[in-house]
Amino acid sequence: METVVSGIRSTGKLHLGNYYGAIKNFLKMQDEYNCFFFIADLHSLTTHPTPENLQDNVKQVIVEYLAAGIDPEKATIYVQSDVTEVVELYLYLNMNAYLGELERATSFKDKVRANPDNVNAGLLTYPVLMAADILLHRATKVPVGKDQEQHLEMTRTFGNRFNRLYKNEYFPEAYAFSYGNNLIKIPGLDGKGKMGKSEGDANCVYLSDKPEAIRKKVMRAVTDSGPTQENQVKPTEIQNLFDLMQVVSTSDTVQHFDDLYNKCQIRYGDLKKQLAEDMVVATEPVRSRIEEIAADDAYIRKVINLGAEKARESAQQTIKDVREIIGFRKF
Ligand code: TYM
Repeated sequence: METVVSGIRSTGKLHLGNYYGAIKNFLKMQDEYNCFFFIADLHSLTTHPTPENLQDNVKQVIVEYLAAGIDPEKATIYVQSDVTEVVELYLYLNMNAYLGELERATSFKDKVRANPDNVNAGLLTYPVLMAADILLHRATKVPVGKDQEQHLEMTRTFGNRFNRLYKNEYFPEAYAFSYGNNLIKIPGLDGKGKMGKSEGDANCVYLSDKPEAIRKKVMRAVTDSGPTQENQVKPTEIQNLFDLMQVVSTSDTVQHFDDLYNKCQIRYGDLKKQLAEDMVVATEPVRSRIEEIAADDAYIRKVINLGAEKARESAQQTIKDVREIIGFRKF
């Protein structure tokens, strides 16, 4: 059976980008593949969380994974730092990851631009740790949003390089997976790029946001002064709202507002009201479970202990094989 690996950084609450980009459309994978869903807490250290924040954020992601429908009976849910084998594989892969290619990664360049005072080595080798996450279980499918595509390409590069160096076929190639559709990019509410935590809270709709908070944020989303010519191309901020609608609303609703836009009769207030209500409905099943699961520490502990055990079993086999291939052999 093919193996699937999916990860979310532990930086706190999950937003609609995480949900649609990496969870919602992939729930049925649990029935079809050997799935590992993990919380990337080692990756989150690049931004130096306090110990309290780190722990709270890890818990938050576990709770929301579970609330969103990842089933610990079917998939393995684990915390990255519980499976320290990944750190060993990261070290081996680092020996064949080159400065030039790491510096060229888009995510690295973005981070350098956003935080010029914190260009640490962990940030530079972030894609190597991500490759280690995937290769650790010899996965072939990785459900991710569009923003992670380049990291998947780097994962293939590192895995293939290892195979070439040691003249074997140990690591399979992993591809970004989305059931035959294009990889998804959920836009934010600020009229610019993707929905993302680093773009600020007002830009994100979180799964745990109360309906009133969702309405408030959506009503404040950036718009323009309205179309002036029939059938004109939508500017980014308006297209973004339509893209969000495409995800949470029915196709009739999207068509309705698209027609109004094309006839220059659209009222953005109406569009936003509808969008907010559809977001409230779309997130309700997850939101309603978050509090209940968060209150059950014993259950959470059980889930991650079981997950760590299952993930370690797979990881230990890989590390054993890799050590042998590299030449760390018993005398
Ligand atoms: P992270 O934590 O930034 O995001 C987690 C997942 O959510 C997706 N995502 C989005 N998808 C569509 N639109 C958006 N606006 C949006 N924002 C986030 C991401 O594509 C991702 O799938 N490096 C990864 C975590 C990671 C990982 C891995 C993922 C570490 N190791 C191994 C897969 C396999 C990250 O920072 O994701």
